Amino acid sequence: MPRERLRLGGNARLLVLTGAGVSAESGIPTFRAAGGLWESHPIEKVASPEGFREDPERVWRFYSERRRKARACEPNPGHRALVAAEERLQHRFLLATQNVDGLHRRAGSRRLVEIHGNLFQSRCAHCDRAPFDDERTYEGEALPLCDACEAAGRMGLLRPHIVWFGELLDPAHLQRIDAFMQGNERLVFLAVGTSGSVYPAAGFVSAARRMGAETWLVNAEPPDNVGLFEHFVEGPSGQVLPELLPLG
Ligand code: OAD
Repeated sequence: MPRERLRLGGNARLLVLTGAGVSAESGIPTFRAAGGLWESHPIEKVASPEGFREDPERVWRFYSERRRKARACEPNPGHRALVAAEERLQHRFLLATQNVDGLHRRAGSRRLVEIHGNLFQSRCAHCDRAPFDDERTYEGEALPLCDACEAAGRMGLLRPHIVWFGELLDPAHLQRIDAFMQGNERLVFLAVGTSGSVYPAAGFVSAARRMGAETWLVNAEPPDNVGLFEHFVEGPSGQVLPELLPLG
């Protein structure tokens, strides 16, 4: 349990980056642990544009299952501690999450950038219509088609609004994070529940350090990049965050 608390007095700003670990206590499996999602599902088959072209049915089965499971899970005290921090800090707070499970939003986070997309949104794989809310599951039935393409006499398949391997993150999301880092007031960077193995998110800690930020990591175990952080608190985020983050 942490003896330390983040000090966020004055005009200090807090940039938080979360990963799969923050949702582990809600019952959502992480990616790289033994028994994690990438052990049982080959990334290139279910999380790449090539995998989708090869077998869209398999991809939709995978994401339908993830939609069903995530819907059955609830935010945990770690998610809620971040909402409390946001309520206190307001514009001095920004949460960038790699998670697509929607639990931060369901907990009440609003100053939120979902850099890897959202499990509960779909978009067209062919046209540039905006992503839209979609909770449906597509298994053992016709693949979902895009209405806009159909109206234009084309066939477009819907796909999950998730950033797959080999795809670029939304530049507007990266700009928002960068702009937050650029402010003049003291910056604290806190990463939670992430192995630091996927870029560009894995590079945020170094970018924050270049901006003079104080850097913290909360993780169940020390990941490979633990040495990049000035402060490391080992433990489950659902227990650590409510103690670490100041409320008053
Ligand atoms: P990982 O599965 O790589 O790492 C999760 C980290 O959380 C590990 O270091 C665990 O030790 C830690 N952890 C587990 N339970 C925890 C708990 N209760 N409290 C705190 N920490 C805990 O997941 P990510 O780093 O999020 O991308 O993976 C990054 C990206 O790789 C994901 O967004 C996903 C994946 O491929 C896409 O799908 C685009």
